[in-house]
Amino acid sequence: MTCFPFFSKGSSSSRQDPDIDEGIQNVRIFTYKELIKATDDFSPANKIGEGGFGSVYKGRLKNGKFAAIKVLSAESRQGVKEFLTEINTIAEIQHENLVKLYGCCVERNNRILVYNYLENNSLAQTLLGGGHSSLYFDWRTRCGICIGVARGLAFLHEEVRPLIVHRDIKASNILLDKDLTPKISDFGLAKLIPPNMTHVSTRVAGTLGYLAPEYAIGGKLTRKADIYSFGVLLVEIVSGRNNTNSRLPIEEQFLLERAWQLYERKELVGLVDPSLNGEFDAEQACKYLKIGLLCTQESPKLRPSMTSVVKMLTGKMDADDRKITKPALISDFMDLKVRKNQESNIDTTYNTSSASENQDSTMTSSAPSTSVTTFSTAQYDQSM
Ligand SMILES: Nc1ncnc2c1ncn2[C@@H]1O[C@H](COP(=O)(O)OP(=O)(O)OP(=O)(O)O)[C@@H](O)[C@H]1O
Ligand SMILES: [Mg+2]
Repeated sequence: MTCFPFFSKGSSSSRQDPDIDEGIQNVRIFTYKELIKATDDFSPANKIGEGGFGSVYKGRLKNGKFAAIKVLSAESRQGVKEFLTEINTIAEIQHENLVKLYGCCVERNNRILVYNYLENNSLAQTLLGGGHSSLYFDWRTRCGICIGVARGLAFLHEEVRPLIVHRDIKASNILLDKDLTPKISDFGLAKLIPPNMTHVSTRVAGTLGYLAPEYAIGGKLTRKADIYSFGVLLVEIVSGRNNTNSRLPIEEQFLLERAWQLYERKELVGLVDPSLNGEFDAEQACKYLKIGLLCTQESPKLRPSMTSVVKMLTGKMDADDRKITKPALISDFMDLKVRKNQESNIDTTYNTSSASENQDSTMTSSAPSTSVTTFSTAQYDQSM
């Protein structure tokens, strides 16, 4: 593990606070004033997005570099010391497929993270953005993205100490640099939120589709929950579509369900993104989709580790000798009223009956307008 060469030298205000001095080792501390300057006073014109943790602004730092400046929302604030301890852990981590944390700002009530700015936005806004992006993802590029994300996740799961379960692997958390190298963002961020705090996501319909049922419903968090989310993402990248699309005919709306149907009919190749115009390696594409199904198996034990996934994606391990059973579909675990409601034009409502019996782990969501996901206590089991 490599440490960042950042040390707090520049900020006189931070040096006056003994808490901060104790907290920082590897992370650069920015003053609030510096960040105001970088973002033109957090001008709406510089706002590039908003997620469950707060708003993100594009800014230009004193050294001329662009940065993505994430202002954590009030609910996610924690004490300076705890915050800096966590930030130190994140700042120490460096990998080609992980977004680099430049530093942070902890002045007064502000909790702000400063990241390397990625030029080509996220997979959600480009590949899966419904044609709003001018980027074209050919088959080779997609393979590179799948392998890169898998490597980044394998690093978090198997090399970093203490290991990190991301908890929110999804297309909007995969950012792309100028060469379309994928970088996983927001790793370690869940730890900055006190465990009893609610993570409010603005895109729960999407997030919901990435959640391993045992985590969503039982609150059991292991690396295998990330591997499930990765499997969904893998199928999205190959098919070029979101995991849920209510505008499609009912039997095609849920991507994993569709993948399983086609797998059973030995027609998996039919799921590959039509915008590739047939220019792809069909055998490899089907293998990638099968790996996606393996990662989303109902039993977490049947899901391969991320290291094995990297080996399978790069052809260093056989993927065909593994038996594939039906993937875990969140709809199978829920009293899912989506279809019925759509027929009667009522608001789409997911209702987890088993979750509501379990006070420790609830997840309710009303999609699409008032999307809220609540995770009360997700136990973190490092043994898997
Ligand atoms: N380092 C970065 N470089 C460029 N754009 C970024 C960067 N970090 C975030 N963004 C942009 O800001 C948007 C919002 O990011 P944010 O992480 O806050 O929300 P999210 O990923 O949609 O949801 P979540 O809070 O669950 O992660 C992203 O969709 C991305 O386009
Ligand atoms: Mg994010």
